[in-house]
Amino acid sequence: MVDSKNLLQFLKNRRSCDAFLQQKIERNDIDKIIEAGRNSVSFKNRQPWRFVVIDDDKKKKEIAEICGGRAIVENAGVIIALCSTLVDFKMKSGFEAYPMDLSFACSFMMLQAEAMGFSTKIISTFDQKSIQKYLFLPFKMEIPLLLLIGKEDKNVLYKKYKRKPLEQVVSFNCW
Ligand SMILES: Cc1cc2nc3c(=O)[nH]c(=O)nc-3n(C[C@H](O)[C@H](O)[C@H](O)COP(=O)(O)O)c2cc1C
Repeated sequence: MVDSKNLLQFLKNRRSCDAFLQQKIERNDIDKIIEAGRNSVSFKNRQPWRFVVIDDDKKKKEIAEICGGRAIVENAGVIIALCSTLVDFKMKSGFEAYPMDLSFACSFMMLQAEAMGFSTKIISTFDQKSIQKYLFLPFKMEIPLLLLIGKEDKNVLYKKYKRKPLEQVVSFNCW
């Protein structure tokens, strides 16, 4: 059982990383992080994901170039590309399930990585077609997010983004 008080403080302390040290992540640690994603929730348990792990330095550099030459992408210990395997499915509400499923998996992996002492960053601003081609994604499969994981460079001054106040985001029993 996870201590709920500590968990809440852990969630409140987390923030996206702005700079990584150039440090590799052990395969054993990558496996644990992926295991968290594999055990994530998904609509009807369809698990419409494939986690493409990029830990090769040359490939990280090339992905960073596709992402506009960003150092944070190149310096990440590992890049996990969250790829879909099912894209044609809509829930009864009309929403597509796979972007939500992939977001949950991303979130599970982020929190596992953070709990292991790593820092994380989500990247969504890339040309999807170029990444699809680079990773040889099959036809129709999508790639909405890249998850960067690594050791934080503590010499960089970080901004902690505030959250909206509780009363602005919560109401009970009606809007
Ligand atoms: C769907 C999604 C896409 C995101 N894309 C990016 C991105 O492309 N680049 C980036 O720097 N951060 C990205 N983020 C991170 C958010 O900007 C960040 O979580 C938010 O500003 C709050 O900051 P914090 O994580 O430090 O609390 C993304 C987050 C989500 C959930």
